[in-house]
Amino acid sequence: MKDTRVAAEKTGAQADLAASRRDVRYCFAVSRRQPAQPCTVTLDRGAAGALATLLPLLGCGEEAAVLGFERLASQDSLSPELRGPLRTIAVDERVHDALLRGLQAALPRHGPDSVPRHVARRFHRGLQGGDVATHLAQIAGIDAAVCTILSRLLRRSAPLANDPIVAGILEHIRRDEVRHVAISRTIAMAMIDRRTARDVAADARAGLTTLLAFGGSSFELLGVDPDRLCKDVGTLPKGLFPQ
Ligand SMILES: [Fe+2]
Ligand SMILES: [Fe+2]
Repeated sequence: MKDTRVAAEKTGAQADLAASRRDVRYCFAVSRRQPAQPCTVTLDRGAAGALATLLPLLGCGEEAAVLGFERLASQDSLSPELRGPLRTIAVDERVHDALLRGLQAALPRHGPDSVPRHVARRFHRGLQGGDVATHLAQIAGIDAAVCTILSRLLRRSAPLANDPIVAGILEHIRRDEVRHVAISRTIAMAMIDRRTARDVAADARAGLTTLLAFGGSSFELLGVDPDRLCKDVGTLPKGLFPQ
């Protein structure tokens, strides 16, 4: 029904303007942001509202990833052969940031979220305090968790899977994150022992479950069992840093 659907088509500048008018605040000061990538969505109001509530939490992770990978790619302790793929990931993360801002601008205004954003910012800042290898192991754990979250949101029976634009954006990000996991874990495993990598990745995922708890009812509206999601995110996949 027309009045229960959200439709918007905007240019990148309009999408950024719409985002700012909706009080879409950034988590981190990222320089040279790409313009928001405008898009059109057709979701029912319940799904659109739930997605609008979850996106700032996902977007905060993308902003942190831009800063994190740009920092990692500039480390003199890494060889140029390793810095190249990390720089490529940083470019991916800038695209993800722009995609999610465009998507946010096409969704209804969501309610105040300053507490989760504050918690998300603190969580991601905490990940950036360690050395290169530790940070990469944490990222491998977190990005693998993001793949799980996106896969659940994109299950065929879930509302987001029925919107080709939204599904396309989230699938694009999911595919990239699979590659980010592979690169991050390979470099981390070359630099630290697996037990240490496992421990820091598991700790990072445990922290992520605290953030996910804020999205409980929104996940439910989007066809994802939030308790099961938290349980799975809080468990490190056995194959990530095998014994
Ligand atoms: Fe990303
Ligand atoms: Fe990533």
